[in-house]
Amino acid sequence: MNHLIAPSVLAADFTNLQRDIEMLNQSEADWVHFDVMDGVFVPNISFGFPLLKAVKQLAQKPIDVHLMIVNPDQYIGQFASAGASNITVHSEACTHLHRTIQLIKDAGCTAGVALNPHTPVAFLEDIILDLDLVLIMSVNPGFGGQQFIPNTYKKLFDLKTLSHQRKPDLKIEVDGGVNNYNCRQLIEAGANVLVAGSSVFSSANPIQEISKLKHF
Ligand code: DX5
Ligand code: ZN
Repeated sequence: MNHLIAPSVLAADFTNLQRDIEMLNQSEADWVHFDVMDGVFVPNISFGFPLLKAVKQLAQKPIDVHLMIVNPDQYIGQFASAGASNITVHSEACTHLHRTIQLIKDAGCTAGVALNPHTPVAFLEDIILDLDLVLIMSVNPGFGGQQFIPNTYKKLFDLKTLSHQRKPDLKIEVDGGVNNYNCRQLIEAGANVLVAGSSVFSSANPIQEISKLKHF
């Protein structure tokens, strides 16, 4: 499978959001990554439904919603109607993860689970068959522009091994500190979806930066 690029709107210029989304439309980006933070699960608050609806109107690509929130079950229907194609929840925020995954699918979206840096891949052994995507956090969630955690390579390798054994079409997404210096090693370790925020939007030439992540 060719790998996918999912630039994160969190790092966009909100005073020029339309320009930035149109740039993504013109680029080789495959998805638009949309980070929702509630100030409870993570120590930061980002944005929610109104912004997702606006991005949905502008974007010509699927929207990959990453929920860094407690009690996601309560909001899944609203995120699906606001335009999410994929919804990813955090394993650490879901007591009844299996139920949450079924709710996402019932809402018509593909379903992902994110793992914080300390959560082992083995945690997912008994739910992997139900998942379309696993997101490996390569920073502690809550902020863009943080430094990549090197143990991520080992976790990607663990997940690639589990995926080969049990779920060969699994999307393996890596999120945090991804740039055109580490992208090759991340793909070799097992990732097939790269989320990139600051490396794309702080570049003088974001379209070229996305292209570099796509072809290296
Ligand atoms: C962090 C978010 C990321 C963030 C990545 O909690 O989940 O998607 O936007 O930003 P960078 O690429 O700047 O690390
Ligand atoms: Zn994210």
